[in-house]
Amino acid sequence: MILGIPNETKAGENRVSIVPDVVKQLIKEGFNVVVEPGAGKRSYFSDDTYTTSGAVLKSRQAIFSESDIVCCVNAPPDSDIASMKKEAALISFLFALSNPAIVHCCESAGITAFAVDAIPRISRAQKMDALSSQANLAGYKAVLMAADTIGKILPMMTTAAGTIRPAKVVIFGAGVAGLQAIATAKRLGAVVEVTDIRPETKEQVESLGGRFIEVKGDDSIKIEGGYVKGVSEDFLKKQQELVGRHVAEADIVITTALIPGKKAPVLVTDEMVKSMRPGSVIVDMAVEQGGNVVGSELNKTVVKSDVTIIGEANITSLLPSVASFLYARNLLAFITHLATKDSFKFEMEEEITKGSMITFKGKVVHTSLLKSETL
Ligand code: NAI
Repeated sequence: MILGIPNETKAGENRVSIVPDVVKQLIKEGFNVVVEPGAGKRSYFSDDTYTTSGAVLKSRQAIFSESDIVCCVNAPPDSDIASMKKEAALISFLFALSNPAIVHCCESAGITAFAVDAIPRISRAQKMDALSSQANLAGYKAVLMAADTIGKILPMMTTAAGTIRPAKVVIFGAGVAGLQAIATAKRLGAVVEVTDIRPETKEQVESLGGRFIEVKGDDSIKIEGGYVKGVSEDFLKKQQELVGRHVAEADIVITTALIPGKKAPVLVTDEMVKSMRPGSVIVDMAVEQGGNVVGSELNKTVVKSDVTIIGEANITSLLPSVASFLYARNLLAFITHLATKDSFKFEMEEEITKGSMITFKGKVVHTSLLKSETL
């Protein structure tokens, strides 16, 4: 089986799908690996490190037309997918539910496509969970970005000239990104307050040294398989009122609230932004899903009412070598789950395969897509 590693073409993307260390392991498993020249350059992996790890350099066209499995971070352009072999597979972040065009492209190319963002978050698939590995890094970096922008320090500091009080950080959402943001802000010495609507997060927040802002839940909150599936506007209003008081006193706000497959809930209103002290900073990590913050703009940093709002959609790409390393380790586990050195070995009804397979030989097979009206 030939595994292909093309250059990522999405603007601002610095990651690469497979790093040289993982090439070595794939070769040990018996796979052949081909890589496009320069694929690892922006994550600081030279072509030489790939070739000494056993990969062969090939043109982009050869990577797509000859590989049995093409490994990407972001969905490649349609023309590349169109040039893949019909029996080949694409493995990438695809976000197929909100991106019907990519699904149509895989359909008409007749290929099998696996979306790593759809790998179920079950214990058996933890090693393959690329959403978590990347969100974890992004949660860390979001705090550093805010700390670097704020013009204040985060820890308490007692000096001969006087004492500086610790900064206050409010975090919305204690999932993967949020928990890492809590840990990072605590390590930097901030006082951290957190809101989430899944009751079990209280204990996790407290174990990291955060203070949990309790918002009494109501019947409108639907939780399934550890994910919030829905919440009413009334509840969100109640939450805004209660958490609003904490936001008004915050130096930094990081928002990570997500309802999978839906637009991000609006949690920080215009009034809440106005209530913050001049110079405060908000990082809206959910900006790509529509944003948790009124006024955040995709891939822009804006200043509203003297508050800086950071809307960077690809924070992980700012940590390209470690992000690529973890992503490649996720793909190694996923590839060896799906294939041997000689052929594919996946079973259509197996949970990880079924959860992540978007098209099979050009036919849409994912249950959520078959139910969706957008296709
Ligand atoms: P996750 O699913 O692990 O966590 C989301 C959390 O939000 C859950 O704990 C959920 O209970 C909570 N939540 C939902 N509604 C809420 C509400 N009304 N109030 C408070 N909490 C609420 O998701 P993960 O992996 O941590 O990702 C979080 C967000 O960050 C997503 O929108 C994701 O797309 C984004 N992200 C952004 C990156 C960037 O570069 N900007 C990189 C990685 C992730």
